[in-house]
Amino acid sequence: MPGSLFHILEHKEAPLMRPHVEVIQQADLIQHDAEFPRADGGAWQRNLSYDEEIGAASIRVHLEPGWKRPMGYHHAITEWYVLDGGIEIDGREYGRGTYWRAPIGMVVPEIRSAKGADLLVYREAGDYGFTVADRGLDDAEDDWTCMNGDGMEWLPVAKEGPAPGLFIKMLHQHPVTRAYSRLIWAAPGWVDHRLAHHPCSEEAYTLSGSMVYNFGDLYEGVYFYRPAWVKHGHFVSGEPSGCTWLIRSDGELTNLYTGHNEVIREEEALNYDPTSQRPVLAGIPVRSRSMGEWSLDGQ
Ligand SMILES: [Fe+2]
Repeated sequence: MPGSLFHILEHKEAPLMRPHVEVIQQADLIQHDAEFPRADGGAWQRNLSYDEEIGAASIRVHLEPGWKRPMGYHHAITEWYVLDGGIEIDGREYGRGTYWRAPIGMVVPEIRSAKGADLLVYREAGDYGFTVADRGLDDAEDDWTCMNGDGMEWLPVAKEGPAPGLFIKMLHQHPVTRAYSRLIWAAPGWVDHRLAHHPCSEEAYTLSGSMVYNFGDLYEGVYFYRPAWVKHGHFVSGEPSGCTWLIRSDGELTNLYTGHNEVIREEEALNYDPTSQRPVLAGIPVRSRSMGEWSLDGQ
C-alpha cells in the first residue's frame, strides 16, 4: 500500500515521533529555558525538532556571557555547531564554525562561554541528561570529534545522483549506521528540477544564502526535518552566493528520483460547499508563521 502509514512502517528506519517539519524560521519559535542540567548561567533554546518519546532533539541555543558547565557526560549522542560567538573547551577557545561530537557516555571537558554564543545542538538516541564526572577525554574509548568547518575545503559531491554544483564538508559519518553531519554548499545557479526521496531522514539548518524549492524558500535560520521517503526537490539555488546548510541524516543517503509528478484528488462533497468547506489533505508538514502556506508543489 504505497503512500500509506503501513508503507512507512514497512520502512521502519524513520523515527516516527519526529514530526515532518518543513519549513520553519527559527526566529518564529518561542524560547524555552535551555535543557542544560548542571550548568551555570543563562541559556535558552528554540526546539526545531523534538522526539517526545526518547528526548532526541535538534535545537537552536543561545548561551549568555559567562555560561559554564563542568566536565561530564551526556545521555545522548551530542553534537554542537557554533553559529556565532565562541566557547572554551578545556580552556581552549573555539569560534564560529566549530563542530564537536561526543558519543553517549563520553566524558567531555568543562565548557564555558565568556562572551556568549549561538549554537545548533543535536541529541540522538537519548535525552538532555548530563552527569558530572571527572574522567577526561584521554580515557574515552570512542572517538571525540572536534573541528572547524570554516577552515575546511569544499569538495565537489562525487556521488552519482545530484546535479553538479554541490559541495561538501564532512563533519562526521558513523562507520556503521552511515548517519552523517555535513556542511553542504549549493553553488549559485545550481538547479535540480527532479523530485528526490531516500530511505533515511534528513534535516537541515540554512546557514547562509538562499534556495527556492518545492516546500518554499530557504534562507538564514530556516530549518526542516524530513522523515524518510518524503519527496522534495525542484531546487533553484539563489544568487549571488548560493545556499549553505548544516545537513544531517540518520543513514546512508541514496537519492531515488521522480520525474513527472501529478497527484489526482477526487472526492464528492455530500453535504458541504467544496469551495469553502473542502477538507484539507492530511500529512501537511509543520510550518512556522513567516514561511506561509505550502503550495503543495511536490505533494
Ligand atoms: Fe534529500
